[in-house]
Amino acid sequence: MSQQANEKRSGQVFWESPANIALVKYWGKLQGQIPMNPSLSFTLRESVVRIAMHYEKVGRGAGGLRTFRLNGQLNEKFQLRIGKYIESMKAHFAFLDNTALDIESKSTFPHSAGIASSAAAFSALAMALGSIENELAGREGKGSDFLQKASFAARLGSGSACRSVYGGFTVWGKSQHLEESSDDYAIKLHDADVHPVFRNLHDAVLIVDDTEKKVSSTAGHALMNGHDFRESRIAQAENNLGTMLQALKTGDEKIFVDIVENEALTLHGLMMSSRPGYILIKPGTIILIEKIRNFREKNNINLCFTLDAGPNIHLIYMDKDAEKVRSFIRQELLPLCKNGHWVDDGVGSGPIQKQIE
Ligand code: DP6
Repeated sequence: MSQQANEKRSGQVFWESPANIALVKYWGKLQGQIPMNPSLSFTLRESVVRIAMHYEKVGRGAGGLRTFRLNGQLNEKFQLRIGKYIESMKAHFAFLDNTALDIESKSTFPHSAGIASSAAAFSALAMALGSIENELAGREGKGSDFLQKASFAARLGSGSACRSVYGGFTVWGKSQHLEESSDDYAIKLHDADVHPVFRNLHDAVLIVDDTEKKVSSTAGHALMNGHDFRESRIAQAENNLGTMLQALKTGDEKIFVDIVENEALTLHGLMMSSRPGYILIKPGTIILIEKIRNFREKNNINLCFTLDAGPNIHLIYMDKDAEKVRSFIRQELLPLCKNGHWVDDGVGSGPIQKQIE
């Protein structure tokens, strides 16, 4: 049989990929989705997006996204955004020129949890594109080159998505503190660089408000361009990253807590001091922050909060404190959450190939 007759004409790949929570925040970007400052996050376990990507060879130049379904329904808004993304990926995945894609997507994010799913979605899409490229080339393997390309491709969909292709802790953005770091893709921290006390961190996502936010992250990033604090923010993030890497390695819980909360409050401070300024936190956010800080002082337990670009609290705590913190969550924090709603999440091990159900 000729090689051509052997070539695969169609097939399907499956990926499940998680969201991540940043401890040092990516805020502000340059042309080409290059981050203004380096960021560090851990990948979550429960908040995942599953996709099935079906591919079929078509005529030259006729490739691209054909259909996009979210939870079984055709979805025009996503079809448009993902169609554009797939178009832009033609420069990096040559097979897309003559390959049509039909994508099914399912999010396991609890309904209206107010957690951004774009990092999970774009990392899943990038992993799937890499798998199809491998299949068509008759290659196996999900080694470091595969993951680096997936991280690069995910970044071009949504910046923070590049950090979701690895499990554990990841860094995205060139930093003097990490030789191998890059603006183009994220890298995973080695196990030896993460003290055991931090390896199984928990993230209780406490839902204060689940309505759609008024200012998107993308618009927020843009406001960093002429921001009065732009230069000092870049320097602060670089310093915070250096200190955080040290704390992660040595197991310094106090410094960890300091940096995480400094980054969360800085992020929202930058939003408030943008021109125009805007406020995404709600009164409930402040009430929860006060409760968390009081509990820390009284009990000498190093738990802390962080925030994404929204009002919901991510309560970060260590596995050794899980029992006490969970009863605090149940008794004192859940009554303050919208409909008692929260997500019990934590450090996860990254994307996996898994059928969509
Ligand atoms: C506050 O990655 O959602 O969550 O690159 O425009 O898609 P785009 O933005 P996005 O920004 C995330 C911002 C953040 C901080 C972080 O995750 O580092």
